[in-house]
Amino acid sequence: MNYEEYYNQSISHPIEFWKEQSNQLDWYKAPENILSKDEHKYPQWFEDGQLNLSYLCIDKHIKDGFGGAIALIYDSPVTNTKERISFNQLHQEVSKLAGGLQKLGLKKGDTCIIYMPMIPQAIYSMLACVRIGVIHSVVFGGFAPHELAIRITDCKAKAIITASHGIEIDKIIPYKPFVDEAIDKVEDKPNHVIVFNRNEEPGAPQKKYDVDYATLVDGAPSVEAVPVDSTHPSYILYTSGTTGTPKGIIRDTGGYATALKFSMKYIYGVAEGEVFWAASDVGWVVGHSYIVYGPLLNRNTTILFEGKPIKTPDASTFWRVISEHKVNVMFTAPTAIRAIKKEDPQGKFIKKFNMDSLRYQFLAGERCDLATLNWTKEHLKVPVIDHWWQTESGWPMIANMAGLELKKVKPGSASLAVCGYDIKILNEEGQEVLEDTEGYVAVKLPLPPGTLTNLWGNPKRFKLGYLDRFPGYYFSGDGGFKDEDGYIFITGRVDDVINVAGHRLSTAEMEEVVSSHPSVAECAVFGINCELKGQKPLGLVVLKTENELEETEIEESIVQMVRKEIGAVASFRDVLIVQRLPKTRSGKILRKLLRNIADEKQYNVPSTIDDLQIIDEIKSVYEKQRIGIFK
Ligand code: COA
Ligand code: AMP
Repeated sequence: MNYEEYYNQSISHPIEFWKEQSNQLDWYKAPENILSKDEHKYPQWFEDGQLNLSYLCIDKHIKDGFGGAIALIYDSPVTNTKERISFNQLHQEVSKLAGGLQKLGLKKGDTCIIYMPMIPQAIYSMLACVRIGVIHSVVFGGFAPHELAIRITDCKAKAIITASHGIEIDKIIPYKPFVDEAIDKVEDKPNHVIVFNRNEEPGAPQKKYDVDYATLVDGAPSVEAVPVDSTHPSYILYTSGTTGTPKGIIRDTGGYATALKFSMKYIYGVAEGEVFWAASDVGWVVGHSYIVYGPLLNRNTTILFEGKPIKTPDASTFWRVISEHKVNVMFTAPTAIRAIKKEDPQGKFIKKFNMDSLRYQFLAGERCDLATLNWTKEHLKVPVIDHWWQTESGWPMIANMAGLELKKVKPGSASLAVCGYDIKILNEEGQEVLEDTEGYVAVKLPLPPGTLTNLWGNPKRFKLGYLDRFPGYYFSGDGGFKDEDGYIFITGRVDDVINVAGHRLSTAEMEEVVSSHPSVAECAVFGINCELKGQKPLGLVVLKTENELEETEIEESIVQMVRKEIGAVASFRDVLIVQRLPKTRSGKILRKLLRNIADEKQYNVPSTIDDLQIIDEIKSVYEKQRIGIFK
């Protein structure tokens, strides 16, 4: 069947289409009620089905005779370690850790935060939680204790699983001390902190709530997977929104498993038993779907890479991993390629490795610029496929479905709508716009299986943010347009969310921190172009009149504050002091105008600005700091 036929079927007969896909899974109780609606008339998939993700990722393959096959390759240039872990070994680690969690009193429906570096124990922890119906929430290591505390409080975590430390190129990230700091900040404290100690010697000082990971696993019984309802949340994953508070995206179990299994075959084009590598982090949605659950559900060998595209030890590391582990399909962010390209513009390192195993290179997480797309294609000599999705969707919404039918690549477009996603480009009034006209990217309901089911503890925000803007549609927050062949071009966010090195961040959140600085009267934080990271945040601040500190001291302390409150991942390094900020008559700061001037893009000065001199003032501050030409 070709793409058009398959896609049309998925839209005209979603129930039949997804029922057939759900048959690819081994359910404890196969669903009969394929598509129902919750109280907001929002779709729920496979409501009466029962299954378990950990069983499907591990036990099923052992039952089928593949226990000795390699499930996981841990490749860590930062510790000089390589480990090959079979499905049998994975079973041992996961079922015993699950037993340990049960012994600590964790049960189906409880929540558990996982704050870990890229080590196998992070994956064991995720799978152990879903094995017993505990809802995990993985927090990316680049977030500071304050952000961790927000998440602990929001999901009411009963336990935290962490490690003594992580390793970032040349520095140690103190995970356990960060957890202690976060726990100090929260009122409702978790009962236990399970610590995987990476040191030979004892790590940070012991707390009453500490449990040693290795001792817990050693003394625990192996436990079987617990059947859960298809609608049972497998995890909560926090992502940035347009306010200072992150949103807890809820993922179900049955819809997610169905969608991931489908995507491995039809989007990524990987057969069972092949090697798949998503060079991301388990703290992001890409890590959840395509380091852990997708490949393991599909009986692929997945690669857990604890390193960076460069400096670990150099820009050849990706190609070494592909060649050494015979990776068939790879996924990374354009930023990673840009970093490699900067160090090795001629692609000399690539030529040193046998990359015959590689079939496709997928890119996502941010807009893919043409130079990056072309460089990758020229040097890797395989189809390079840009595809578009979000934490909310959990799996791709726009892609070239390589496993179904590889279509022509149109540079600048993530290609066509994926089966199940009826994507429309709408104007302000919610009407579809003409071809090649930019508008809001929305998806007609019902969304296919695997997509978010709600926001944790905040159904109102879910409805308001995603469903109310265009009734009958899910609103993505992105802008874009469609051409005459149905190819969709994403032009960027239409809200205050920015994408820094493929990491989604909220400028509103940064603004909250900056404005709380004692010397700041008012401020604006927005994203500007960055040659390496795609975007980076820039803060403009107006100081209070009475100030005893030097301007450079203030700038530095603001940068440190954002680092301390949000984390290093914010990459917030640029603050400029200005005399005033341009505003509308009602007092709204014109962030888009500020951004366009910094990016040297065309801009219109709104008629609501009375004093045009303010634009010259801003320009002169930018020029002094070389913003716009400074990358
Ligand atoms: N734990 C703790 N800290 C982390 C972290 C983690 N997991 N990941 C990043 N950080 C820190 C970095 O150490 C850095 O700290 P610093 O300010 O003290 O130097 C800061 O967060 C910013 O990190 P990053 O944005 O990664 O910038 P970088 O300059 O260290 O590296 C790249 C640049 C391009 C090599 C890197 O961003 C990269 O590998 N990008 C690809 C990311 C990716 O795959 N994203 C896809 C997600 S789907
Ligand atoms: P996240 O939820 O962190 O995965 O970030 C999702 C956001 O990243 C989307 O809403 C887009 O703005 C952006 N994004 C992801 N993939 C692409 C892509 N292929 N092209 C353009 N933007 C992308």
